[in-house]
Parts: sequence; C-alpha cells; structure tokens
Amino acid sequence: MAWKVGAAVSAALAVGIAGSAAQQAPQRAAWRAEYRAPESIPFPESNPYSRPKAELGRRLFFDPVLSGDRTRSCASCHQPDLAWADGRRRALGRSGDDMEFHTPSLLNLAWQEGRFGWDGKFRDLEAVAFGPISAPGNMNLGAEEAVRRLAADPAYAAAFAGAFPNASPDASLDPGPAVTRERIEAALATFERLIVSTPAPFDRWIAGDERAVPEAAKRGFDLFNGRANCAACHGGWSFSDGSFHDIGVGRGEDIGRGRFVPKSEALRYAFKTPGLREMRGRTHFMHDGSLDSLAAVIDLYDRGGIDRPSRSREIRPLNLTAAEKADLLAFLDTLNADAALSVAAADLPDGPPKP
Ligand code: HEC
Ligand code: HEC
Repeated sequence: MAWKVGAAVSAALAVGIAGSAAQQAPQRAAWRAEYRAPESIPFPESNPYSRPKAELGRRLFFDPVLSGDRTRSCASCHQPDLAWADGRRRALGRSGDDMEFHTPSLLNLAWQEGRFGWDGKFRDLEAVAFGPISAPGNMNLGAEEAVRRLAADPAYAAAFAGAFPNASPDASLDPGPAVTRERIEAALATFERLIVSTPAPFDRWIAGDERAVPEAAKRGFDLFNGRANCAACHGGWSFSDGSFHDIGVGRGEDIGRGRFVPKSEALRYAFKTPGLREMRGRTHFMHDGSLDSLAAVIDLYDRGGIDRPSRSREIRPLNLTAAEKADLLAFLDTLNADAALSVAAADLPDGPPKP
C-alpha cells in the first residue's frame, strides 16, 4: 500500500502542515460561506446615499464647530487610525474625567439593523448624532445653536443646500431653511455608513486563498464557529448580531439594556455585541473597558463569565486548552486589514459605494 503513504505525504506538503487537513471541522466549508463579504453598502430608503450628502457628513464629522467651545469633533474620539475609536479605557469627558463608556469602533455600522449605543439608547444611526453633540459632558452644543452656527457659515449653508436639493417642482414655494437638525443627522449618518473595514487576510481566505491565513487561525475559526460558540453572537462578515446580551462581564450599577427594559431578566447587564475587526494593538475591551487584552477576553469566555440568571444561554465554561486559546487569538488576528482605512480622505463615489 505504498501509494497511500505517498498520497498522504504530498497532501501534507500541499497544505504545509502534516495532518491539518484531517483535523479540520467537517462543517468548515459551510461555515466559510457565512462570512462572504457583502457586494455593496446598504443605505436606508429614508436616507439614501448621495455624494454631496456624504461629503457634507464627512466635513461635519471632523469639524469642531459642532462643540460648544469648538475644541472637539466626532473624530476626537472616533479616530480613523484607531479603528474609529480612541484607544482609551473610557471616553474622555469635557471635565477631564472618564465618561461612562468605552468608545466603540464605528466600523461596519451600515450593516447593523438594531439600536445603537452599548445599551441601545439610540433608535438608529441618525439618532446618535445629537447624543454626543448636546451632552454637557461631551461636545456641549445645543441643537438650535448647532443649526444657527452652520446656517451662519456661507460655505456650510451652500453645502447643505447642495446636499438636500428642494424636491418641490414648484420653485415659487419657500424651500425652507437649508440647515436643520434632521439634515445634520442625515449627513453624518450617510458618512458613517461609509466607514467600512477594508479586506483582511481572513477575507482573502474566505474568498478561496488557502495560504492567506495560518493553520492555527483556521483551527481557531473552527472553534469560533464550533465548540467555543462565538458565532452565536459574532457570526457573519461584520462579526456582530447587533443584539444585546449579558456575557457575564458587567457588575454593579450599570445594567445596560436592562435600564430601558426593566421587566426583561435577559436584558439585565446586556450590552451590544461589538464587531471584532481591527482589534490589533488594542488594550481596552468591553463596554466599560474593563478587560485589557484579547487573552483576558478569551479567559473570560473560557470561565463562562459571571453565572447569574441574566447570563446568555449561549455562554458557558469552555475548558479550552492553551493551544485552543492560542488558535482563537490567531484567528482574531486575521481580522486586521492588509491596508490602512482611507474613507477619511478618499474621493467619494457618485453612486452607492462598494465596501
Ligand atoms: C468624548 C468622545 C466621543 C465623542 C466626541 C463622540 N463620541 Fe461617539 N461614542 C462615544 C462613546 C463613549 C460611545 C458609546 C456611548 C453609548 O453607548 O451610550 C459612542 C457611541 C457612538 C455610536 C454608536 C456606535 C454603536 O456601535 O452603537 C456612534 C454611531 C457614534 N458614537 C458616533 C458619533 C458621532 C457622529 C459623533 C459626533 C457628532 C460622536 N460619536 C462623538 C464617544 C464619543
Ligand atoms: C451571547 C453572545 C456572545 C457570545 C456567545 C460571544 N460573545 Fe463576544 N461579545 C458579546 C457581547 C454582548 C460583547 C460586549 C459585552 C460588554 O461590553 O459588556 C462581546 C464582546 C467581545 C469582545 C470585546 C470586543 C470589544 O470591542 O470590546 C471580544 C474580543 C469578543 N466578544 C470575542 C468573543 C469570542 C472569541 C467568543 C467565543 C469564545 C465570543 N465573543 C462569544 C456577545 C457574545
């Protein structure tokens, strides 16, 4: 039976590591199909894409004019080169103190259908804007004053008029004010939907390039979808179900989504599932920034978090070996993009853009 040995040897050479093909989960091919990159960025019917609107939104996003003392913009905390977050444990309040929450990344929010914010306090992406703008501890600018400031600036007034052309065919009708709160929200949200992760080694692997990721990462992918059960909440290309769960991490006063839905046991201590892309180099994780490394995150899941009635049924002690933990980390590392993110400066397209 010498030919069998020969076949095994050449198969092992082809995949680079002896035995790895035999060890992979039988469902791997089906799982991989769940992670294909989307064809285009979705925009809601109520706020469709247009280039002038996106350009206006980008300008607003980076402009400290939207803060009371003109010192902060959205980009003060959502920095493009820090995966659109700020690298801090918790966001920096105006007084210099830590705010309540860790600043989340803004990557891939266009695919998120549910509510926004760690505890779901915002109805949709449009509704987020005046949370930070009007908060006294953050940008500290009332909505009326924001509208007045922008309307008094001829360049902004023209940009708003261009981004929101009067739809009425009757030119004699008063087009109304060019700058409104709703239009500020619509422009910012249009720009934010363009904040999309660029392809990572993982995406090349999903597209069929077997050499794009190491074997350890492939084993980690099997664990992520299989025994470790991560995909129950982080499944799919954006790695978030957009939903709220208690994974057994938060203690104390903040009961997350439970504050808004006090009758629900399951929503006590429930926070929104974050996406898992671009985490390389990060040192703060979770809604409260309470974990300081990905290894600590894996250890939390391995222990199963705090056992309490609200904890998700998808969470339980995993008893992972050290090798399995390393495989999960190797997998998460493949979610870092090959090239820098560029929508902060790139030319924006005329039509709905592709990711
Ligand atoms: C001081 C830092 C800071 C500034 C400035 C700031 N943010 Fe945030 N952002 C945060 C924090 C912290 C959260 C989490 C808040 C929460 O969950 O209640 C957040 C949450 C968000 C979310 C929700 C993300 C999600 O996954 O649900 C969006 C969208 C967002 N910010 C956009 C903006 C925009 C647009 C601006 C400017 C108008 C802005 N932020 C200004 C810190 C900041
Ligand atoms: C029941 C749903 C669920 C499961 C299962 C789950 N997660 Fe999470 N994950 C969440 C939620 C919710 C958060 C945010 C919790 C918080 O901030 O309090 C989170 C946070 C994280 C974070 C921190 C991200 C950040 O931006 O701070 C990482 C990393 C992570 N999960 C990885 C994993 C891995 C790896 C597994 C499998 C071992 C897993 N998750 C299983 C829901 C889940």
